[in-house]
Amino acid sequence: MTRVVCPGSFDPVTFGHLDIIGRAAGLFDEVIVAVGANTTKKTGMFTVAERVAMLRTSCKEWPQVEIDTFSGLLVDYCRTREATAVVKGLRFAKDFEYELPMAHMNAQMSDLETVFLPTSAQWGAVSSTLIREIATLGGDVTPFLPAEVARRTTERARARRTAQS
Ligand code: PNS
Repeated sequence: MTRVVCPGSFDPVTFGHLDIIGRAAGLFDEVIVAVGANTTKKTGMFTVAERVAMLRTSCKEWPQVEIDTFSGLLVDYCRTREATAVVKGLRFAKDFEYELPMAHMNAQMSDLETVFLPTSAQWGAVSSTLIREIATLGGDVTPFLPAEVARRTTERARARRTAQS
């Protein structure tokens, strides 16, 4: 039985994330999608509880996928959950430059393997950061997000614009 972890901020979950999660679910027995805090990023659009709720709805077609949260080191979380590897999506070279040092450090700290999957070409330009920016500036995010996530993202961005005006 192979259990892997797909960690990320998921603020919010996109079709790019779901592409990787769904393919990981086809490759491994159990997939834990772990929402963690990226300490290098500014405060996000959704709370961790909201991100978890949106992930649960978006991943309900895959019974072998569990949604969880973690704090602290990813290697400690993976050890606790008895996961043998981390699965990450790579869109372009910049992702590789960001992910490779973390993969090396995680392997050195804990023998934790990292499996990189190339993001499907269709979603290669999608990121939560760009989604937040497009929504904040009043753009249409529906092509990039599950319908319920798009609705909540558009609503949150509108509420923020109203609060600022
Ligand atoms: O979606 P993101 O923002 O790329 O997710 C980043 C996340 C949360 C997966 C990453 O920041 C992480 O693994 N944080 C855990 C802290 C940790 O283990 N840091 C040391 C990495 S070598």
